Amino acid sequence: MNKVSKLLMLVLAGMYAVFLSFSAQADATPAAMPQKVEAKNETFSAPHPDQYQSWKATSELSERVDALAGDPRLVILWAGYPFAKDYNKPRGHAYAITDIRESLRTGAPKTAEDGPLPMACWSCKSPDVARGIAEQGEAAYFHGKWARGGPEIVNNLGCADCHNTASADFAAGKPALHLSRPYAARAMETIGKPFDKAGRFDQQSMVCGQCHVEYYFEGKDKAVKFPWDKGTTVDDMEVYYDNIGFSDWTNPLSRTPLLKAQHPEYETWREGIHGKNNVTCIDCHMPKVQNAQGKIYTDHKIGNPFDNFDQTCKNCHTQDKASMQAVVEKRKQDINEIKLKVEDQLVHAHFEAKAAWDAGATEAEMKPILTHIRHAQWRWDFAIASHGIHMHAPEVALRILGTALDQAAQARTQLVRLLATKGITHEIPLPDISTKEKAQLALGMDMPQLNAEKQEFLKTVVPQWEEQAHKAGLLGK
Ligand code: HEC
Ligand code: HEC
Ligand code: HEC
Ligand code: HEC
Repeated sequence: MNKVSKLLMLVLAGMYAVFLSFSAQADATPAAMPQKVEAKNETFSAPHPDQYQSWKATSELSERVDALAGDPRLVILWAGYPFAKDYNKPRGHAYAITDIRESLRTGAPKTAEDGPLPMACWSCKSPDVARGIAEQGEAAYFHGKWARGGPEIVNNLGCADCHNTASADFAAGKPALHLSRPYAARAMETIGKPFDKAGRFDQQSMVCGQCHVEYYFEGKDKAVKFPWDKGTTVDDMEVYYDNIGFSDWTNPLSRTPLLKAQHPEYETWREGIHGKNNVTCIDCHMPKVQNAQGKIYTDHKIGNPFDNFDQTCKNCHTQDKASMQAVVEKRKQDINEIKLKVEDQLVHAHFEAKAAWDAGATEAEMKPILTHIRHAQWRWDFAIASHGIHMHAPEVALRILGTALDQAAQARTQLVRLLATKGITHEIPLPDISTKEKAQLALGMDMPQLNAEKQEFLKTVVPQWEEQAHKAGLLGK
């Protein structure tokens, strides 16, 4: 071979390599959903053992914290809504399926058509959701009640939730991150961040932002939508929800049409100092670590970054662990202090509004007051449901809670005046809500009954689901 043809060969080979890597990239971030989604996480244990084992280790994050027992005011604020029955703080990803089955919020459906909740409630629990949407399309997938998904949605939150597992890149050990939820992909486009055009760091946080976000269920089939059309701050979303007249439920005490904030971690992270500097969720929650052979991989045991201080905070900061933890802890306490003040005001406001209705207040008289209660509670919930906000964006939390306190104060000032016009000048007493059980009793909730039904459901219905999934070949080993 002469020099020229050798050179030509090299150029051609180079072009071919470029072509290959382009097509691999296109493959990694398809505009449409992948045709086939493998939801069985175990499939990927052999090709990607480090990632698989560390992912599996999220099962060590098993502590269950009962938030209602810790703070019974929540029962009153969420009266009439499933969260008043049962609400635990989040724990490891490995518990997503267990916890949604066991929560009293999902009730005890006996058939696929039984309520109370819609299919959309599975959305952030499993790669089977990505599989279902890819196979059936969104409309068909979301149709029906939560129980319909029981035999189908069985694998824990895993690989195909964040990766295009069908791509050549993934098989080759590259991340091939993608948005497995089309509604999340649309929402990111709405805020000017189409996933395919986003940089690597943006994409890293966006995969978490499929689930760790605010969302609601819209339309007849109760499909998931993120309320981001006007932006992602608490104020933007409040305007959005008010404009479309949306409420999740009505609190039966005050008869306020309320919003339930979900878990807007992505939104509050964006507003905090780390988000503003594009320090991603991954920098703190999924650091690069070494296996026994010295190979670098991404740690998939997503938990508290302080447990990996040397691979997380210390990459960028010089302070020691104890002092940084103390800073974060102090912020948590400060936020907690204001949070409890807002809750106390809101609890009173709900009972005072009830007293006003009972004394014959009219819709017109109540409307402005209920709007204040709605906005106060939305803001309070947004702040507290953003788990880790004391770390991610403490100043944002304090501002949101400050505005919530103001809204609650306005509601109560107007309530005092209104009650006076009805001849009520004494303080409206509160029932005993000193424990979760007492608060639930005060609302007339039959907890023994709900618990018994749940136990029966777990003993009879869930094993059938597992059995069906097993027969259909949907379950990993
Ligand atoms: C919650 C989202 C999420 C889940 C679930 C998840 N991954 Fe990942 N994975 C990531 C992120 C983020 C990265 C790092 C991306 C980067 O470096 O840009 C990553 C990186 C990887 C990589 C590239 C090599 C490396 O270690 O950086 C492989 C391979 C991988 N994951 C395999 C898996 C497997 C197998 C599973 C299931 C057992 C899984 N992942 C579950 C988010 C996830
Ligand atoms: C498919 C939806 C989904 C995705 C994607 C997702 N999460 Fe989660 N995450 C959840 C759910 C659901 C829980 C709560 C599980 C439980 O308590 O049963 C959770 C829990 C957590 C927890 C609490 C763990 C603990 O031990 O307290 C952290 C931290 C977390 N996620 C961070 C992340 C990060 C970072 C990403 C992106 C790399 C991410 N999540 C991606 C749904 C998701
Ligand atoms: C700068 C580091 C950092 C970044 C960036 C970060 N986190 Fe966190 N996050 C933490 C720390 C530290 C905690 C635990 C705080 C504590 O100890 O109280 C935490 C807590 C959480 C929790 C609550 C866990 C629980 O059990 O209550 C969730 C959920 C979470 N983060 C998700 C995310 C998501 C999603 C993103 C990106 C949108 C993100 N985090 C970005 C450091 C970070
Ligand atoms: C990838 C780099 C990176 C990582 C990892 C990181 N930080 Fe930061 N951190 C930053 C940057 C950038 C700033 C902003 C600095 C500035 O503006 O001067 C910052 C600012 C801070 C501040 C001061 C700003 C404020 O909120 O008052 C604190 C506290 C902080 N980080 C704590 C942490 C903790 C705790 C962790 C680990 C859980 C962590 N950081 C992980 C890059 C990082």
